[in-house]
Amino acid sequence: MARILSFCNRKGGSGKTTTAVHVAGGLGLLGKRVLLVDCDPQAHASLWLLDQEKNSNGLLDCLYGKVEVKDAISPTGYKGLYILPGNRALSEFEADFSREKGAAFLLKRCLKECQSHFDYIIFDTPPYIGLLLVSCLTACQYVYITVPLQFLALDGLFEIKRLMERIREKANPKLELKGIIPVMFNRNLKSSWQFLKEIKKVFGRDLLFPFVRQNVRLSEAPGEKVLIYEYAPKSNGTIDYWALTKAIQKDLTKEESDSNYFFTNFKERLSSNAPL
Ligand SMILES: Nc1ncnc2c1ncn2[C@@H]1O[C@H](COP(=O)(O)OP(=O)(O)O)[C@@H](O)[C@H]1O
Ligand SMILES: [Mg+2]
Repeated sequence: MARILSFCNRKGGSGKTTTAVHVAGGLGLLGKRVLLVDCDPQAHASLWLLDQEKNSNGLLDCLYGKVEVKDAISPTGYKGLYILPGNRALSEFEADFSREKGAAFLLKRCLKECQSHFDYIIFDTPPYIGLLLVSCLTACQYVYITVPLQFLALDGLFEIKRLMERIREKANPKLELKGIIPVMFNRNLKSSWQFLKEIKKVFGRDLLFPFVRQNVRLSEAPGEKVLIYEYAPKSNGTIDYWALTKAIQKDLTKEESDSNYFFTNFKERLSSNAPL
């Protein structure tokens, strides 16, 4: 059965999509089967990984019960990595279903049929608290919060924690905060070090995951429609997301991976995947 993870932060521009895409892609390169579910109406992950013109069915059609998830999933061209695409119309789902009883369980129900096909299902979440984020937290087991070390927004972090507590009580007792992931670290900025220290103090060492440095290649990769591993394999972005992927895998499965394996084999391992 797939392990189901969400990458969250109530703020936009806090590295959720970059992290969800690269951890999903990294796990794929490690030989796992991964489904990335784009739950953000901005659909940045889908625009990044898919040719939008070709993309017909998506998450919204599944939530409305029009198609089965297996018919809406697309291969991304990266080994092991599949995507259930989102689109702007996903905000209709928020509007149409916000007051419907049980709406927050629809996502979980949709994904049930495909859980045995994947090792990991990863949610890229919207930057606000609403039905889609609540649906993600109802359907997943593990939560990772990405925190940009440029503006410290601990209030947003606590808000997500409070929301998680409510969802744990009402809908999903297995929901667990697994980690805080500091992103956009800049060693030359005093504030980066201060924020890191503050997060460590508030959340403790155990929840703190390896940080991701600010790296211009990471901001260029989506425009080129490729993962950092392919775009700039020797960049800090590749090094950091590869380390983070392995840390998450180890945390969830106790499986260790050989760090050199990726760098020596990544070219052939980037090869395309077959349709489901
Ligand atoms: N470590 C990083 N270094 C430099 N730019 C980054 C980094 N992480 C993310 N970005 C860029 O910052 C912007 C916001 O990141 P994104 O992952 O889209 O955030 P969110 O999904 O939370 O809105 C994007 O333009 C992205 O390319
Ligand atoms: Mg995003």
